[in-house]
Amino acid sequence: MTTTELWLPERPASAPWSGDKAREVARAFDPRDLPQTFYANPYPTYHALLEHDPVHLCPDGSYVISRYDDLLRVYRDTATFSSDKKKEFGPKYGDTPLFQHHTTSLVFNDPPLHTRVRRLIVGALTPRAIAQTEPGLIGLVDGLLDAMAERGDVDLISDFASAIPIEVIGNLLGVPREERGPLRNWSLAILGALEPVLTPEQEDRGNRAVVEFLDYLKGLVAARRASPGDPDIDVLTRLIEGDGDGETLSEVELLQNCIFILNAGHETTTNLIGNGLYALMEWPDERRRLIDNPDLIDSAVEEFLRFESSNQLGNRITTVETEIGGVAMPPETRITLCIGAANRDPRQFPNPDRLDLSRKPNKHLAFGSGAHTCAGLSLARLEGKIAIGRFLARFPDYALSAEPTRGGRVRFRGFLSIPARVG
Ligand code: HEM
Repeated sequence: MTTTELWLPERPASAPWSGDKAREVARAFDPRDLPQTFYANPYPTYHALLEHDPVHLCPDGSYVISRYDDLLRVYRDTATFSSDKKKEFGPKYGDTPLFQHHTTSLVFNDPPLHTRVRRLIVGALTPRAIAQTEPGLIGLVDGLLDAMAERGDVDLISDFASAIPIEVIGNLLGVPREERGPLRNWSLAILGALEPVLTPEQEDRGNRAVVEFLDYLKGLVAARRASPGDPDIDVLTRLIEGDGDGETLSEVELLQNCIFILNAGHETTTNLIGNGLYALMEWPDERRRLIDNPDLIDSAVEEFLRFESSNQLGNRITTVETEIGGVAMPPETRITLCIGAANRDPRQFPNPDRLDLSRKPNKHLAFGSGAHTCAGLSLARLEGKIAIGRFLARFPDYALSAEPTRGGRVRFRGFLSIPARVG
């Protein structure tokens, strides 16, 4: 194949708007009604918000905040900015399995439920439990690389990026390999239901996924209760048995939070790997730098997380009267935290639209911050490092072979498909 047959990724312009046009884009921003062009490249819009309307009032009365310092403040003040989503999800989902799932998972709760569940989950995701996944992870990645080398024409998402997290989390929770088939679609359907606007089909798919997932986990948990693993390395056994101080989860809390862990580590990590490999095609000089200096991989992963954050939005609700950036807000104001914009805030990141694999400091917010900081960040970093590092060592000349397909979602940013040639 000659290079003329390959697709060259076009590095998008980051801030094509200025002055009145930028002001107008910021003013009209509505996460519930976005133009198609937004999904390919949201960053010009984010820059318009950062510059002209950093505390942006949406038509539905909620606010979108974009500045790094504002996000940090909201993340840290959990008394004023609550994660409890019962009020918001009540009208959104009604009395449904989706409502029960999302309002029982730790990420959408405040203390005391959040503190209790988080302590158990963080206690279960021990450095030992994570370290013991590494040899299996390397074997898995190398197996996928071998299979791709044989084929030559591959899809970087289905043949690689999405095949990794499912196995890693499946191993961590001890889901038998032959039972992992439906996990990805359940996860996509349940997390997809968090999008700002839902079709009845999406809602229906999400509800069915929760019911099927719960059914499956009931059997898995019963089997593990009957035959427990080593709680130091088997995360599910640890979650079932509790922390040894008498603290345990109820059956509903256990099942719903297992679903959450299985989901949380899936699409996000798939997108970290896919977005990272794509960004390296957009930035050939940085790719060469990483090939020549493989030790850069740790800081490269941090930069991929900042540059194309897989989780672009977070949410909070005010508990009392407050203000952000001088804008007064009554209690029960809904706030969307735009991680994707904050990670491109020029006040925090010099030259933010440049991919700089040795960026320092790089205190991005891809994993959030404060009490709800991602509990799986060490595992996600390990997966990103091993997957992208080993891929690049094996296929330094990989290239697009057709136009990639984006996920087309505002909350989770990634690709459905990246056709590529690796041979
Ligand atoms: C690149 C991959 C990942 C990204 C970008 C990511 C991002 C995030 C973010 C932004 C939050 C905070 C949500 C908030 O404050 O509203 C979060 C929470 C969480 N994540 Fe991740 N995550 C990733 C991978 C993982 C993995 C692999 C796991 C599990 C093995 C995981 C488990 C969790 C859990 C349990 C929470 C809830 C923490 C809490 O509420 O206290 N994540 N994640």
